Amino acid sequence: MTAAMDISITKAERSKLQDISLENMPFGKYFTDHMLEADYENGEWKNVEIKPYQPLLLSPSVAALHYGQAIFEGIKAYKDAEGNAFIFRPQDNYKRFNASAERMQMPPVPEDIFMEGMKQLIQLDKNWIPNKEDHSLYIRPFMFSSDELIGVRPSDTYKFMIILSPTGPYYSAPMRIYVEEQYVRAVPGGVGYAKAAGNYGAAMYATAEAKKKGYDQVLWTDAFEHKYVQECGTMNVFFIIGNTAITPSLDQGTILDGVTRQSTITLLKEMGFTVEEKELSIDDIIEAYKANLLYEVFGTGTAATISLIKELRYKDFVMKFDVDNWKTAPTVKKWLTDIREGRREDKYNWMQKI
Ligand code: COI
Repeated sequence: MTAAMDISITKAERSKLQDISLENMPFGKYFTDHMLEADYENGEWKNVEIKPYQPLLLSPSVAALHYGQAIFEGIKAYKDAEGNAFIFRPQDNYKRFNASAERMQMPPVPEDIFMEGMKQLIQLDKNWIPNKEDHSLYIRPFMFSSDELIGVRPSDTYKFMIILSPTGPYYSAPMRIYVEEQYVRAVPGGVGYAKAAGNYGAAMYATAEAKKKGYDQVLWTDAFEHKYVQECGTMNVFFIIGNTAITPSLDQGTILDGVTRQSTITLLKEMGFTVEEKELSIDDIIEAYKANLLYEVFGTGTAATISLIKELRYKDFVMKFDVDNWKTAPTVKKWLTDIREGRREDKYNWMQKI
C-alpha cells in the first residue's frame, strides 16, 4: 500500500501489544510494531518506508560504527481524555535535528519525510501511546552514515529512521548531583549544541565515576575553569534564585537548545519569574545557597521532563534541598503535563494533532 507522499507501508501481521501491558513502562525498553526507514544515496532521499520493527542488516565496515557520524532526537506523543493523539512541539525538534546534521556534515532530512513520516508512523501505532501519569510514547528519529568504508570522510550514504517506545519516567526520584570538575562535556567550537550520539558516549565515564561516589548524575562545568555550569546529565538545568530563574545561556554553543528548556522558560515567565539565560558560576550558586536564596534546582529534558535535584555536591561542600516543599518545578511539570494531556489551554500551540 502506498500513502500520500510515497511512503510505502507494510503492516505487521500481529501486534506485540497483545503481549505487554503499558502500565509501569521502563524508559526506552519496548518498541512498537513499526518503524520508518529512508536512505540517502546519490544526493537524494529515497526508499521511504514504514515496516514492521525489525533488526538492521549492516556491514561491519559501516562508517557510523567507526567514526560516530550519528545524530538523534527525542520527542513525545500523548493522548487526551478522548483518545486523540498529539505530538509535543515536533517542529522544534525537526529544526534542531537538521542543525545537528549540519554540524556533523550530514545531509538535512526533508520536512515531509521527518514530519509526515513521523505522523503516519504514530497513526499506525497509536494504540501504543500509554494512558498513564508520567507515561508517553517516546519518538526517536535518528540518522547515521552508512558508507561501507573505513576511510575517515563524510559518508555519501545515510540512513534516517524513526522508532517509537512507550515509556515511563526517565529519572523517577529526586536526584543527587555531583558537580564535575575533571571531565568535560562540551567546549566552545565543539558539538555540545548538537544532539550527536558521541556526546552521550563521551559522558558515560564521568557519570559512572559520579555513580561510584553515590551520585545519580553530574553537573557539567566549563572546560577552561570548571566554574560555569552547563548541563546536568542528559538535561538542561534551572536554578531558582529569589524571584529569578537562571539557566545557562546557549551563546557559546556548549548547551543543547532543549525544547523542554524553551517551554520551561515560557511557563516560568507566565508564572511571573524573571528568566535569565546567562553564565552562572558555581560560586554564585553557593553564595545564593548560603544566603538562603537558592530555592530550587531542577533539570529539564524530553526524556526527563522536569527532574528535581535534592542535593548538589561541589568539592566537599554539599547543598541539600527540601524538595517536598517546592512550588515552582512541580508547577512547571504540572502545567506541561496538563497542556500535553489536554487539561490546560495550549495557548502557545505546542501540541500537533495527528
Ligand atoms: C531526551 O531527553 O530525549 C534525551 O535525548 C535524553 C536521552 C539520551 C534519553
